[in-house]
Amino acid sequence: MLEAFDFVIFGGAGDLALRKLIPGMYRAYCNDELPEGTRIFGTSRREEDITQYHQKVRAAAEEHLREGEFVAEKWDQFAKCVHPLFLDIANHDENWEKMAETLKAGNKQRVFYLSTPPSVFGVCCKHIAESDLISPTTRVVVEKPLGYDAQSAEAINSEIAEYFEESAIYRIDHYLGKETVQNLLALRFANGIFEHLWDAKTIDHVQISISETVGLEGRAGFYDGAGALRDMVQNHLLQLLCLVAMESPNKLTADSIRSEKIKVLESLRPLKGDAVKWHTVRGQYVAGEMNGESVPGYLDELGKESTTETFVAIRAHIDNWRWSRVPFYLRTGKRMEKRCAEIVIQYKDVSHEVYPSSAGPLSPNRLVIRLQPEESIQMVLMSKNLEKHDTELLPVALNLNLAETYKHFVSDAYKRLMLDAAAGDPSLFIHRAEVDAAWAWIDPIIEAWQRPENRPLAYAAGSNGPEASEELLSGDGCHWFNIDDLLPEGKG
Ligand code: BG6
Repeated sequence: MLEAFDFVIFGGAGDLALRKLIPGMYRAYCNDELPEGTRIFGTSRREEDITQYHQKVRAAAEEHLREGEFVAEKWDQFAKCVHPLFLDIANHDENWEKMAETLKAGNKQRVFYLSTPPSVFGVCCKHIAESDLISPTTRVVVEKPLGYDAQSAEAINSEIAEYFEESAIYRIDHYLGKETVQNLLALRFANGIFEHLWDAKTIDHVQISISETVGLEGRAGFYDGAGALRDMVQNHLLQLLCLVAMESPNKLTADSIRSEKIKVLESLRPLKGDAVKWHTVRGQYVAGEMNGESVPGYLDELGKESTTETFVAIRAHIDNWRWSRVPFYLRTGKRMEKRCAEIVIQYKDVSHEVYPSSAGPLSPNRLVIRLQPEESIQMVLMSKNLEKHDTELLPVALNLNLAETYKHFVSDAYKRLMLDAAAGDPSLFIHRAEVDAAWAWIDPIIEAWQRPENRPLAYAAGSNGPEASEELLSGDGCHWFNIDDLLPEGKG
């Protein structure tokens, strides 16, 4: 059972803390998942943040929690365990000493959450160590971006490793905390039927797509230096790819899962030089329309010239026995038509068509795992149209609608991961070797993108990305799948 712990958020008045971390802790409190006596500390070096800390976190929670979740009385009770700390991470002064005294007096399990730019990870860990706050059970949670390439990631990881053992470092990828992502493991490894339908013999290709409707969201400084490949593909999309493609771990332990994921990352066929142009598409949104409203382009939002991509599509291959010649299409973009994160496993066509063409075209079977906006798992099958005397075949879906089944459950990836870190369960966190392997695949793509012919292509805000992204798939005889387009009304 989880015991009371001290949770220190460096960058406690920052965007992530206010939008996700503190609201996540409040959800844990409301679900009785926060042991009594737990203390949450939020640091800031701005004095005005500290004096107004409680007002600030409350206003953010009211704004970011879902409808009906914010209950003033509950919040007031919860807020008693939230403590602001005035502290400059870079200056190991008396404020650090005060914090150390408070934490030592509490004598609880400690988790330090570095919700700061990675440039201060090293100095922050150093000061935690110099304040004598690292015990054998102390953990440090670090947020992405872990570097901009393999070399900078290595430097950041080495800095943290000077003070914390690898087993105490919890690298977050919040996609791993999403319930449907974990359900993907359950689907694969708690059911017998899929193992026989999970390889190059049966699967035609896999699509993993995360489309967002948001634009820069006030993060221009960070985003323009990163772009969609570093921000989304290097971590979230590759993690999802690993969970789809990995072999069954011997046990469900962090080490077994991670070693299977690393094998997948290491089997990714390198994309280098000229190959990058043929297997990747970069895009940048220009002004367009979303929900009937005009939306500015990326450069207008940014206020300067830039060749940073806000959209990526990639055709990847995993060179191992199971996935030989099965393309994995990855796609992500900002300011897309719809917000949707989805994994589509497309099976091969039937080996011999017995139905006459009058029965209509056959759609291949597809397993569609939707992570958001709603969580569901659907299997698209062909079936006879019951309303017709003559045989007419139509796609229908076996639908496991998790959002409907768990009506009152509010999925919160950050809450889950923070509690896992407090409980010392690293299964859903990233090992250093995974970070290295992911960058090893990403770096040559970034390098090739420096060539003038690989500048991002324009796509209108509110669209599905550049035309070239459709062509990437149509050249292979497929297309980006949208279950809503396929299923006739009422057949889902
Ligand atoms: C973050 C990226 O890691 O994930 C953001 O930095 C992105 O740019 C976000 O918007 C998407 O997360 P979610 O859970 O909203 O799909």
